[in-house]
Amino acid sequence: MSDTTEATEPARSPSRRALLGWGGAGLALGAAAAGGTVAVVKGGGSDAVPAAESGAAVPFHGAHQAGIATAVQDRLHFAAFDVTTKDRAALVQLLKDWTAAAAAMAEGKTVGEGAYGGLAEAPPDDTGEALGLKPSRLTLTFGVGPSLFAKDRFGLESKRPEALVDIEQFPGDNLDPARSGGDLCVQACADDPQVAVHAIRNLARIGMGKVAIRWSQLGFGKTSSTTPDAQTPRNMMGFKDGTRNVDGTDTKALDEHVWVGAKDGSDWMTGGSYLVARRIRMHIETWDRTSLQEQEDVFGRDKGEGAPVGKAKERDEPFLKAMKPTAHVRLAHPDSNDGARILRRGYSFTDGTDGLGRLDAGLFFLAYQRDVRKGFLPIQRALARQDALNEYIQHVGSAIFAVPPGVRDKGDWWGRGLFG
Ligand code: HEM
Repeated sequence: MSDTTEATEPARSPSRRALLGWGGAGLALGAAAAGGTVAVVKGGGSDAVPAAESGAAVPFHGAHQAGIATAVQDRLHFAAFDVTTKDRAALVQLLKDWTAAAAAMAEGKTVGEGAYGGLAEAPPDDTGEALGLKPSRLTLTFGVGPSLFAKDRFGLESKRPEALVDIEQFPGDNLDPARSGGDLCVQACADDPQVAVHAIRNLARIGMGKVAIRWSQLGFGKTSSTTPDAQTPRNMMGFKDGTRNVDGTDTKALDEHVWVGAKDGSDWMTGGSYLVARRIRMHIETWDRTSLQEQEDVFGRDKGEGAPVGKAKERDEPFLKAMKPTAHVRLAHPDSNDGARILRRGYSFTDGTDGLGRLDAGLFFLAYQRDVRKGFLPIQRALARQDALNEYIQHVGSAIFAVPPGVRDKGDWWGRGLFG
């Protein structure tokens, strides 16, 4: 068997491909399209493969959750959930059920008993829209927000990590509570948007009566990369974004800046990371009327090559003093922030219009770090104060989550360290 998804398949949890095979002649075309060898992309760390092969499966189990240091996929569906049940045991059971479903979907399998063929009187376990699609490098990354630790909820007050701070209001913020916060989050990334959407939808379905989606965000184009050898993507402002990011194969930088260490406090978070999500609206109509010179001054890099001011190549070391004092790169650079570094993993979004004839478009900023107080916060304080980019953007949503370490094996589950 050349297909690694099928090699590990239990009998009652058929892969999307297998289902197609059983579906009869009418589905044969889809089966052929879904066929081909499915390569496995290794997780974060020194052996990560900068996978361009769309269709591959990313291992779900490991020391760290996939979807952080692993290669960035093309599409995103991010969801924040409110926990509606008051019953701790019900929440724990949900997290176990979610973990099993997430592991199956990451392998390209359906949830539970599948999308059809079960009891005719009951709704199918899987909603079905990912049948025939490859795993598409689906990663599902789970986190818990500060509100879950509130008094009189689940008895978790003493387990709240100090690093899981309440993010302050920055100058210029215009945060919408309906797009902010959340008790839990799941970040679904995949190369196929339907695979990412299917994953969130099925987790929400499993959670009915225990959790409700608070807000969600679709992202259509990655704006950063964890694989520096790959071509750097461009954001909605037309600039290369993610040039100087933490490299997903740089274990030293990851240990220093992204993974929570054993001595950082909150044992249950060792090997995990902290995620800051910001929905940043871009005033692209204003941007599009701005001169090229001003656009390049705003970032401190040129638009074509992405080279820092005064340099020729994208990867040349930036010379900060050559940039305007308000240039985004100058202000965000580690040398301006006591060495602070974050792993950026954001996506572009366009959510229709704002009713005033403008696109509701921008950057859904996602950044992982070992400690938000030494990562996002100092950088964002500097940016909020001075960044020339502020004329063209506005932060409209904000959330922070503690993202636990990876699910080790089939006996482990999302949040075991926290609730166990
Ligand atoms: C819509 C908002 C934003 C846009 C369009 C944007 C765009 C960019 C671009 C084009 C670069 C240069 C290429 C690169 O090295 O990646 C960059 C660099 C960077 N940005 Fe942003 N960015 C935004 C918001 C933020 C925010 C909110 C933060 C963190 C609080 C941030 C942190 C950084 C960092 C750390 C760098 C690398 C600096 C360096 O080491 O040279 N950015 N950004």
